[in-house]
Amino acid sequence: MYNILITDGLDKDAISKLKELNFNAIEQFYKPNELGDNLNDIDVIIVRSATKITKEIIDKACEYNKLKLIIRAGVGLDNIDVNYANSKGIKVTNTPNASSKSVAELAIGHIFSLARFINISNVEMREGKWEKKVYKGTEINGKILGLIGFGRIAKEVAKKAHALGMKVIYNDTLGECDSYNEYRFCSFDEIVQKSDFISLHIPYNKQIGAIITKKEINDMKDGTYIINCARGPLVCENDLIEALNSGKISGAGLDVFEVEPTKNLELLNHPRVSVTPHIGASTIEAQERIGDEVINIIRDHFNIN
Ligand code: MLT
Repeated sequence: MYNILITDGLDKDAISKLKELNFNAIEQFYKPNELGDNLNDIDVIIVRSATKITKEIIDKACEYNKLKLIIRAGVGLDNIDVNYANSKGIKVTNTPNASSKSVAELAIGHIFSLARFINISNVEMREGKWEKKVYKGTEINGKILGLIGFGRIAKEVAKKAHALGMKVIYNDTLGECDSYNEYRFCSFDEIVQKSDFISLHIPYNKQIGAIITKKEINDMKDGTYIINCARGPLVCENDLIEALNSGKISGAGLDVFEVEPTKNLELLNHPRVSVTPHIGASTIEAQERIGDEVINIIRDHFNIN
């Protein structure tokens, strides 16, 4: 019987399916310093974002020579040293299709939250306030939405925003996408300068660092909104707070943070910030689809029809 370690949870139907297929599915989170020692009899490990699979953990797994597959139940692979795992003969794979719609819906949710003060109204009404005259919002209809990155999630955001009457412009390092004539491809600088709302949809690259810093913010129109449901370190939080305080940035919708769970109280408590705790992919539907994709990956790996 093969042992499959699930460290950050997985859809319950997928776990039942693993058992039906005769795998020993072990659900257990380990602290970083404990994980390596517990891989002695593990054939496959399934993680979300809480578990970090570092070089040290891979080295430890290699001592036992058992682990052959790491599955990231989600999109971002930044918590796994993929190149090192591959160099040691361990395959790493993710579930890139499953959560796009859910993440896109959350990004749109943050746009609405900021444009109509939904976030701060929730907080203040619970404190007994009724700020009807203060919160004059802005329609998103007719506004320019700039997408940085144009992968699966960004395309879903574009479709929804377009249906809401927004003008969508996008930038992607792969260049212009032929089949999307209703949106306009722009340079990164143009996105920064022209957008009313900017939404980030790219992975974080440590070598490049933050892509939204004081410099980019200075180039933005006054009153731009920033949405980040991708990776926290893409935006320099200190520079963002400064721009929120000065009014240069009208609002920020954040599902991700430089450090998670974030302790940045100035950001969390800022009246112009709408926050969620990295829940882009946390919907019933996305988690079911992720579970299905995980089962397909395991079937392929073990040649099960
Ligand atoms: C992802 O990369 O799939 C998302 O950030 C969601 C997650 O990590 O749970």
